[in-house]
Amino acid sequence: MSADLMSRYPAISDLEALARRRMPGFAWEFLDSGTGSDEATARNRAAFSQVALTPRFMRGQFEPAIDTTLFGVPYSAPFGIAPVGMNSLAWPATDRILAAAAARNRIPYSMSTAANASPETLGPLAQGMGWFQLYPPRNPNIRTDLLARARDSGFTTLLVTVDVPAISRRERQIRAGIGAGFGPTPKMIWQSALRPSWALATLREGRPQLPMLERYLSTKDTQKFLALVGAELNGTFDWPYFDALRKEWGGPLVLKGLLHPEDARLAVEHGADGILVSNHGGRQLDGAPASITALPAIARAVQGRASVLLDSGVRSGLDIARALALGADFVLMGRPFMYAVAALGARGADHAVRVLREDLINNMSNLGCATLDELPERLSSAHD
Ligand code: FNR
Repeated sequence: MSADLMSRYPAISDLEALARRRMPGFAWEFLDSGTGSDEATARNRAAFSQVALTPRFMRGQFEPAIDTTLFGVPYSAPFGIAPVGMNSLAWPATDRILAAAAARNRIPYSMSTAANASPETLGPLAQGMGWFQLYPPRNPNIRTDLLARARDSGFTTLLVTVDVPAISRRERQIRAGIGAGFGPTPKMIWQSALRPSWALATLREGRPQLPMLERYLSTKDTQKFLALVGAELNGTFDWPYFDALRKEWGGPLVLKGLLHPEDARLAVEHGADGILVSNHGGRQLDGAPASITALPAIARAVQGRASVLLDSGVRSGLDIARALALGADFVLMGRPFMYAVAALGARGADHAVRVLREDLINNMSNLGCATLDELPERLSSAHD
């Protein structure tokens, strides 16, 4: 079965193409869109293509090892699943599918604050592979409760997202009719009818909810609820808030969304364990640099005092090798895992992991790298 999957879908792009055929138009627009004219999403991809690695040969026989340890936890590979809110729009129950796949494959699964399942459900499924992403709430009591629920549900690592000081405009989503309430408009219902397996699975699972947040907000009306979520979660972040958070969360704490080396330096000074270099998959600021472009200066600023992670635009094992070569310790992917589940359900998640693993190992073999640590030596610019 899996050999068959590999012959039909050897790359993430194959899963993307199939996902697009299986998802209604509005759901695709939600998942795929950046913001503005999608320049940042395009920049993310273009910048990866610019990173060349120079192979070394005549190194005898070796089997590249890609397992790694981050924050004291061993993982089978240097990559994991980025937090993606409202991902039941891509395919129903995606959070549950991904949490279980992460446990099977020993890679991290990050649960979004805007996940469509609760931490109490997802933590046990992830079996120690769960990370929790926080959009910092204004109300400190809500913050304390969210952190306690994440910790008690077995989430080990906290990702705090800093790069949403304002909700971005996402013009493609506006055009697709996705307002604050996710419809359903007559157009969405029509688009859903054109994708019967998605529609049936969605009917079975029910409309996507935000169970993590429900208990803190008073209304059941979706539009009002989402407006309240927005008002409760956005634009509050500063260093004093971070210091309070640092005191409250004893485990590894990663700031997600930094692009400026000075912010990374401050993060280390304020006690961050990790910096996740990210432009939110191009969804917030269309003028932002590609995260792979921002990475080297941040790695230099951090100087090994914290772990450096990267997401935004990673689509292959080669891209993972490129990010590690440029100074990342670990890589996350958002859309690729959503494509995989939308394309093939639970086996899609396992298949995506296999594609990425095989591609990373193959590229390391061709580069003459037996270990991940050797990748920076293959940067073409290192030999100028
Ligand atoms: C996201 N991302 C995101 N990040 C976050 O911290 N909390 C969230 O709830 C979400 N939600 C979300 C929804 C969707 C549909 C997408 C595509 C992305 C950003 C995500 O964690 C990650 O930074 C990007 O997805 C990385 O880019 P790629 O891998 O999608 O190119």
